[in-house]
Amino acid sequence: MKQSFNKIQSVNGTLSLPGDKSISHRSVMFASMAKGISIVKNCSNSQDVTSTMNCFSKLGISFSIEQGIIKVNGKGFKGFTPPAENLDCGNSGTTARLITGILSAQNFSSTLIGDESLSKRPMMRVVNPLRLMGAEIVTSANGTLPLTINQSSNLKAINYKLEVASAQVKSALILAALHQDETSRIIETASTRDHTEKMLGCKVEQGKEGKIIYASKENYPVNFEITVPSDISSAAFFIVFALLTKNSSLLIKHVSLNETRTGILTVLKNMGGKISIENEIVENGEKRGNIRVESSDLQNIEIPVELIPNIIDEIPILAIAGIFAGGNFKVSNAKELRVKESDRINSICYNLRLTGLDILEYDDGFEISGKMNNPKVEFESYGDHRIAMAFAVLSMLMDNGGIVNQFESVGVSNPNFVEQLKMICSY
Ligand code: S3P
Repeated sequence: MKQSFNKIQSVNGTLSLPGDKSISHRSVMFASMAKGISIVKNCSNSQDVTSTMNCFSKLGISFSIEQGIIKVNGKGFKGFTPPAENLDCGNSGTTARLITGILSAQNFSSTLIGDESLSKRPMMRVVNPLRLMGAEIVTSANGTLPLTINQSSNLKAINYKLEVASAQVKSALILAALHQDETSRIIETASTRDHTEKMLGCKVEQGKEGKIIYASKENYPVNFEITVPSDISSAAFFIVFALLTKNSSLLIKHVSLNETRTGILTVLKNMGGKISIENEIVENGEKRGNIRVESSDLQNIEIPVELIPNIIDEIPILAIAGIFAGGNFKVSNAKELRVKESDRINSICYNLRLTGLDILEYDDGFEISGKMNNPKVEFESYGDHRIAMAFAVLSMLMDNGGIVNQFESVGVSNPNFVEQLKMICSY
């Protein structure tokens, strides 16, 4: 579906966004693993989290949803039933990678499949360390989905230093480790989102080589109730939009402010963005608060390498901020962007070239300079939700507006993106 956007005058008002996608995935997974009823409030209504719920339904878990509150009837330790069909992870890398960790420890075999995009994404990053734990996993010849996880009775604890800065890999190993009496040690040299270890109460220590996460049966989840904070990665599109639009002031409520996710706020503030946090509280071990944003004049800065994993999902919208900021915008050390829902380096560079900007594309990033010549552009989302939303924001900042192809992909993380825009845009 093609979606057309006109130039807007200002962005004003208050938004309450659905729950954080990463925390929602984990809430659904841990509630399914725990025994008894768990309650998940403000769960993400994204297609990705629906994919997670669909997989667990096929493993015998029942969900009831009333007024946005999800009740999960979990089956307890190794209580899943063998699935009668393949488990379809849709577009969701988090579903596929985390569930591989859980399924590696079950007493039955299962097969994971996904859509065209997910079926191209690398799975060996989880398969290799899980095999070291004793998991028996068969992948396609390219190391991608479909993936069959065979029953393996002798999974053992692991002592493993992560080779990729990936919360998904880290989480898959922690989830497999929850099924052994012996303690696994997972060492992370570059900081990534820490929701899994926080929610499971894993012991964490700073070691010589990096952060050490300890996980064993002691951390196996028990049933719980959670109110998921709103998604900072969804909020990022609105934050940048308000910063870049004249006469704008926006309040986004109850957003997750977990420090492994707030790199986007740090970078935008360092660029001169007027962003303030109000009513900050800690709930279920996770910080949340209201984010207030005012129109600002931005200046590009050097983005610190160590922040890249923290802002990896926000780079598409950060690049849009970079176009309007003084100086050139440059991202490097971000090769991971090439294996996201689309090759995001290519997706961003292709679309920005259409506007007349000068783009240098690198293996691990890109650089933007020059001026837009404001044609009415038809942008290509490549079926990637974050590319679709980033170029929707750019379209609304361009004199002649713009069009985004395959716009339905926004449903992967935020199905109500257009309705939310309508609440805050003045033309
Ligand atoms: C996620 C981790 C990140 C992120 C993804 C969600 C998670 O991926 O890009 O959107 O929920 O663990 P990697 O861990 O592969 O970097």
